[in-house]
Amino acid sequence: MLFHNILVPIDGSDQALHSAEIAVGLAAQHGGKIHLLHIIRPSDYSFTGIDILDLVQKSAGEIIQHAEASLKNMAEQGNVTITSEIAMGNPASIIVKYSKGFDSIVIASRGLTGLSEILLGSVSNVVSHHANCPVLLIRN
Ligand SMILES: Nc1ncnc2c1ncn2[C@@H]1O[C@H](COP(=O)(O)OP(=O)(O)OP(=O)(O)O)[C@@H](O)[C@H]1O
Ligand SMILES: [Mg+2]
Repeated sequence: MLFHNILVPIDGSDQALHSAEIAVGLAAQHGGKIHLLHIIRPSDYSFTGIDILDLVQKSAGEIIQHAEASLKNMAEQGNVTITSEIAMGNPASIIVKYSKGFDSIVIASRGLTGLSEILLGSVSNVVSHHANCPVLLIRN
């Protein structure tokens, strides 16, 4: 079943949150659950030369918490279980790796960078080409 176990990558953007809302709606209709995944990139904390990993981990936690809080009512009403996870590495590679364990991925076409003239961001581009499960791309 396509929407029983949905992977929803989130980067802290409104677009990602919007795609997560759509995912919760789909899961509610199909008796499914969703897994929020945020990935910390090495470049997020290594470029300054000082160790800001603590800070980056804290803000990653806040991205997840904010999404969970925003989705809470909708998830409760639809009887949808939301789990979440923070990983570290290359976002696209990690999402592709995780895709084997899910029925589908719901992902926004753009994220934090969001230059509107480009259709796909780098992460949504690689994921839509290489995921091992169906990908529902949410255009903004
Ligand atoms: N670090 C991340 N962790 C989890 N999901 C991510 C991450 N980065 C992007 N995504 C997912 O991919 C979607 C598209 O973002 P993407 O990064 O591809 O586009 P962008 O930020 O507009 O452009 P850029 O390629 O410059 O980053 C996001 O809305 C989010 O769902
Ligand atoms: Mg991005």
